[in-house]
Amino acid sequence: MSFNGKNALVTGSSRGIGRGIALKLAEMGASVAVHYYQNKAAANETLAKVLANGSDGFIIQADVTQPDDVCHLFRTVEAEFGTLDIFVSNARPELPTFFYPTMEITLEQWDTAVDSQAKAFLIAGQEASHLMSDDGRILAVTYATGSVTGSLQPWVGMGAAKAAVESLVRYLAVALAPRGITVNAISPSWIEDSVLNSLPPELQDLIRNWHRAGWTPMGRLGTTADIGKAAALLCSEDAGWITGQVIYADGGASLMNAEVPPEIQFG
Ligand SMILES: NC(=O)c1ccc[n+]([C@@H]2O[C@H](COP(=O)([O-])OP(=O)(O)OC[C@H]3O[C@@H](n4cnc5c(N)ncnc54)[C@H](OP(=O)(O)O)[C@@H]3O)[C@@H](O)[C@H]2O)c1
Repeated sequence: MSFNGKNALVTGSSRGIGRGIALKLAEMGASVAVHYYQNKAAANETLAKVLANGSDGFIIQADVTQPDDVCHLFRTVEAEFGTLDIFVSNARPELPTFFYPTMEITLEQWDTAVDSQAKAFLIAGQEASHLMSDDGRILAVTYATGSVTGSLQPWVGMGAAKAAVESLVRYLAVALAPRGITVNAISPSWIEDSVLNSLPPELQDLIRNWHRAGWTPMGRLGTTADIGKAAALLCSEDAGWITGQVIYADGGASLMNAEVPPEIQFG
């Protein structure tokens, strides 16, 4: 598996999961457009690691809640790379802009969530397809647990937005199938070195301990490298027959049964 000669754009690759994906693609030979919103220094850190791998790349700023910015992202990629082979939609706004319970969230916060995911992914899918040769790869990073459950109440805006992205994955997959372009979503569980680390330490420990205690059968949280590797598989030439799917990369967490305590499930 090699991405030599391929051009990739990964949104939100200044930090977290996006950085993990960008670094794995670069390690395998891809040139990478490293996207950021406000944290230029972090984007430059990712770019330095991309270049250290012997790959090419550049950094690019955009607010994915703004349709014009999303279009500008692709115009810049076109000017720098000419063509695009891999597009990964990973960016997600900061929690204070959308993370409010169902009965409190404002329409502005709702729009921030939905525009950053559903609207941005529709525009990006259309734009990316214009730049892609046949056999391109489009991948959205979702959180499918939040799309199908209702218990993490302040996730309501993002849960609905990710559900829309997962639906859009299927529609784009059919639209682009005749060209051999695949469109999939990857759904990580809780990941270290990501938004998790911005939570209060006691909350982080609660989450880590819950997964170590059995909610993730593999007994640990995921890493950005875990998701980078899974994303690279889905972006590879060999994954050309997989399209329109939401793939869980979660150490088995999605296999657990919420109605039965983990102690009993493991027997
Ligand atoms: N972390 C997890 O455990 C987890 C689990 C499942 C799914 N996910 C999904 O994985 C993706 C990445 O999550 P993460 O936790 O790794 O993210 P993160 O560490 O919080 O980083 C967020 C990224 O998005 C960028 N960003 C923030 N606001 C933006 C805006 N308005 N426009 C454009 N870009 C913006 C940031 O850029 P700056 O650095 O410039 O601010 C940064 O690159 C998200 O889609 C998330 O829903 C995460």
